[in-house]
Amino acid sequence: MAPTLSIPPLTKDLSRILIDADTISRRVDELAHKIDEKYKDLDEPLILVGVLKGSFIFMADLSRKLTIKHIVDFIAISSYGEKGDKRGEVRLLMDTRENLADHHVLIVEDILDSGNTLSYLIKTFKSRGVKSIETAVFLDKPERHEIDVPVEYVGFEIPDVWVVGYGLDYKEQYRTLPYIAEMYPKK
Ligand code: IMP
Ligand code: MG
Repeated sequence: MAPTLSIPPLTKDLSRILIDADTISRRVDELAHKIDEKYKDLDEPLILVGVLKGSFIFMADLSRKLTIKHIVDFIAISSYGEKGDKRGEVRLLMDTRENLADHHVLIVEDILDSGNTLSYLIKTFKSRGVKSIETAVFLDKPERHEIDVPVEYVGFEIPDVWVVGYGLDYKEQYRTLPYIAEMYPKK
């Protein structure tokens, strides 16, 4: 019997589906292919460092589509608006398990907004003596950038709206939606 396709319906907070699950899956295939090509001659595993919590679904899909040897690791940092943190302030809440020194590292992030998070992570990892560092972000909001951050792999560029699903949340809700949905602006 063919599996029934069930797409969770939009709730009242969500205005529309911006990127559907099939489109996401095809794009993650393409990103994985590019990353495979870039690192195919590496004779050591690439370390993927996912930024918790938002990247966990992207990381799960991307890592399973890679054919190169790699290690999955995570880091947790605070993002602005959480627990009263100031805008632009980034705090390390949980470090990687791997020692990144002398390794090739790929940061895996859910979304590039102001750029503060990625800029902090790139600086921190460089200071630890990584051999190389690149970044993969699932979403990018170009209108919101405050800092120039080099990003080698971008899933989709989106407008300046709050989005949820595929790992991204609004107050810890909606992370497990299989699509990216736009929220109604908060009044
Ligand atoms: P930054 O401003 O580039 O440092 O991004 C900070 C963090 O804000 C991102 O890693 C996300 O976790 C979060 N964020 C930014 N925009 C959105 C959004 O539209 N939905 C959900 N989370 C977001
Ligand atoms: Mg994040």
